[in-house]
Amino acid sequence: MKVSVSYLTSNNVVEDLRKLNVTNVDFIHVDVMDGKFVKHKTESFKQLKNIHKYTSKRLDVHLMVQKPLKYIDDYATLNTEYITIHVESKDVDKALNLIESYGIKKGLSIKPDTDINTLIPYLDKVDLILVMAVQPGRGGQTFIEDTITRIKQIKKLIKEHKVKVLISVDGGINEEIAKKLKDVDILVSGSYVLSHEDYQYQIYKLRGKQ
Ligand code: DX5
Ligand code: ZN
Repeated sequence: MKVSVSYLTSNNVVEDLRKLNVTNVDFIHVDVMDGKFVKHKTESFKQLKNIHKYTSKRLDVHLMVQKPLKYIDDYATLNTEYITIHVESKDVDKALNLIESYGIKKGLSIKPDTDINTLIPYLDKVDLILVMAVQPGRGGQTFIEDTITRIKQIKKLIKEHKVKVLISVDGGINEEIAKKLKDVDILVSGSYVLSHEDYQYQIYKLRGKQ
């Protein structure tokens, strides 16, 4: 299982990116919020443009925005492995095509209250489903237990449609929750990793290898 760390709750992003760069974290999870799709707004792209100075890790960009088409061109210029948009956002098809045109892997995220069947039309177009285990918008929330059932149902859909799509889970993940998510491909974790001085130790615990 891979681990992607979100720095959304960091008080010192530059220092935390440097610290994470010497761990074996697989991706840096870049949360982008527009103040419309979710209440809060993250820093502008201008401030992120230089992220490569602090990390050589591949980025996993999570666009929590109403109009992903407006953001993709910018984030495609970074060292980006995945760009994930929300199934609840506008122009999903166009946005997925645009991500693909950059040769970047396509992710589709779903909020906790959205019917999983809304994913069906896109299953053969995406590389990853990012299942939200909290309401998107801020770090440090509690994992919604029902997510475990939703993951099983989404896996079933993927199997029925005979497609190869990875599952990533985002929100409220700690060591205990990670034990229940062994069959997930990527775990996204923010506050749990940043809550301890030793980020590598936290990442090992998420992987179940301390
Ligand atoms: C929530 C974000 C998450 C979040 C993860 O809206 O998409 O990526 O920052 O942080 P924790 O692990 O603290 O829930
Ligand atoms: Zn996220």
